[in-house]
Amino acid sequence: MSKEREERRSPNRRVSDRQPLADGSPITASARTHAAGTGRIGVRRSNPVPPHGAGPETRAPALHDAAPPYRVDAENSPTPLTCLDLFCGCGGFSLGMERAGFRVLAAIDFNEEAILTFKANFSTDILALRKDLTKFPPETLAANLGVNHVDVIVGGPPCQGFSTARQRDGANHGERRLIHDARRHLYREFLRYVEHFQPRIFVMENVLGIRSAAGGEYFTAVQKEARQLGYRVHGQIEDAWELGVPQKRRRQLFIGVRADLPGYFLPELKPAPRAEPRTCLGAAIGDLPILRAGGGEDEREYDFCRRVTHVERQGDTALNYLRHVLEIDRAAKLTNHVARPHSQRDLRDFARLKEGENSKEALRDRGVEFEFPYDKSHFKDRYTRQSRWHPCSTIVAHLSKDGLMFIHPTQNRSLTPREAARVQSFPDWFRFPKARTHAFRLIGNAVPPLIAEAVGLAVKEFLSEGAHSSRGNEAQFKSEIRNPKSEIQRSLLTSAATRKDAARELERLAGLDRRELRALPAEEFLRGWHALLFLFPGLHPDNALDHGHEYEEISSDQLPLPGYGELLAKRFARSGWPVALEFIADEAWRRFKSGRMSARKFYCVEAQRAGLAAFKAVRER
Ligand SMILES: C[S@@+](CC[C@H](N)C(=O)[O-])C[C@H]1O[C@@H](n2cnc3c(N)ncnc32)[C@H](O)[C@@H]1O
Repeated sequence: MSKEREERRSPNRRVSDRQPLADGSPITASARTHAAGTGRIGVRRSNPVPPHGAGPETRAPALHDAAPPYRVDAENSPTPLTCLDLFCGCGGFSLGMERAGFRVLAAIDFNEEAILTFKANFSTDILALRKDLTKFPPETLAANLGVNHVDVIVGGPPCQGFSTARQRDGANHGERRLIHDARRHLYREFLRYVEHFQPRIFVMENVLGIRSAAGGEYFTAVQKEARQLGYRVHGQIEDAWELGVPQKRRRQLFIGVRADLPGYFLPELKPAPRAEPRTCLGAAIGDLPILRAGGGEDEREYDFCRRVTHVERQGDTALNYLRHVLEIDRAAKLTNHVARPHSQRDLRDFARLKEGENSKEALRDRGVEFEFPYDKSHFKDRYTRQSRWHPCSTIVAHLSKDGLMFIHPTQNRSLTPREAARVQSFPDWFRFPKARTHAFRLIGNAVPPLIAEAVGLAVKEFLSEGAHSSRGNEAQFKSEIRNPKSEIQRSLLTSAATRKDAARELERLAGLDRRELRALPAEEFLRGWHALLFLFPGLHPDNALDHGHEYEEISSDQLPLPGYGELLAKRFARSGWPVALEFIADEAWRRFKSGRMSARKFYCVEAQRAGLAAFKAVRER
């Protein structure tokens, strides 16, 4: 393979740059040193498949050479967008952002294994720092990097304090202990960096538990405090399985767009091109060598015959996952495939479970008696055998304690770190510490790279659409004002060309009751809704249904329009929406959901842009 071609295929990973893991594991997963062809698969259903046990020389030729490029080259693109990764762990988020074309400038975490693992897998161009973010000010990072601005900040402040799993598992019952978990305030460190670096977009990942923790207090606080920093912030729930991760994993994203940039961030992420939504567990791990509990080596050869049989059985989905997500061609050796030992009693209990069954179901449906000594009324579903034909249960950091809920679908043992990493969509060349506890914790804590890549691609699309360049868009909007083309623009110009017009329009609608509002003809309602978006360009329609229960009063000097205090001053602290206008947003959602209002009219960027321009004009006057 030519050097140029090789580099095109491996743009983000310069093996020579990487450092060995602290535990001495060498970095052997080098695309350059990997002898041509030995580990590749090239089997599609239409290709003849070698019989089981056939040697490597009988394998079909590699398909990846013919495949179109699917990776955006961050390093070679003319002006890569820059990014910081805070609370970076081993780098799941960074990997996805790099793959989406970002240049990660720095990654910070206070955990030693996390930073060592990060350094072992990423280029030394990234400043990977072991620092406590509560004590490491953004000014110091800015001085180290020599920049005061980045395009994007991503990160996952620790989520254990909010985790619903933790609330259920008996380890942290009771409101008081949860509420006083100091880790819940770490989002403030993230926002401190946002305040300093003024990224155009930030993305903060957390568990869904943050929505309800302490009565929703933190969910509100993150959004309110980010808005106060000048960001149009909204929450989005992402479903890993829909994004190609073979796992049931739903996570909360907070996305903040600097409020001077027009545009609404899309409400749903698209899977990265390399991903295939709804991939099942079997497709991701079925080629790995069979192990018994306690068996395996930290580094060994792949079983290529098993891989071929696997792809033959599981088809293109497995082939795609292995080639494009796990990048098996770039891993010379199989690493971290070591099974934890289990007691004989546990192994007998594992053997009682059918594929896809947990101990509660086995007891209820088949009357299976288990030997485990736990209180059976509390821990009925303690043992779970995963299924090849479904997404795996959520991979959690708790896997480092025991693997009882992650029993292999067909073997009598729990999942290995490599299997867990594959379920999290980490490529096979990504090395984890030999120590299983560290490896499982880093893997379970990570943002799956496929989700991070989907986030990165959406951010990039948003930023490169030009919607963020206020200058260009103001000019464009002015010309549109002079020459209105669309129905939306005409409706804006006739009803909400000035902020007073907009407020009057809203006042009129606010005087109606819900029934009258429902009966309002489409055009009339649209004028009111667009007037609202025009007057509040810093709010996101996706937040218009989730307000929480806290209110804030806006002082008269901060009102978008003096004289309309009654209408505009009282806001929901979480969403930022004026309380008096809540029911208009409700009605807009109802019409949008029922298909009576198009997405373009609901997320009316023209109204928002006009609002931004109007604010700017007032400020400059
Ligand atoms: C949920 S994990 C983040 C995982 C990461 N986003 C990834 O994709 O791999 C949270 C991380 O925050 C780190 N952390 C917790 N408190 C910290 C602090 N005060 N300063 C720096 N890092 C911290 C933990 O060590 C842990 O790695």
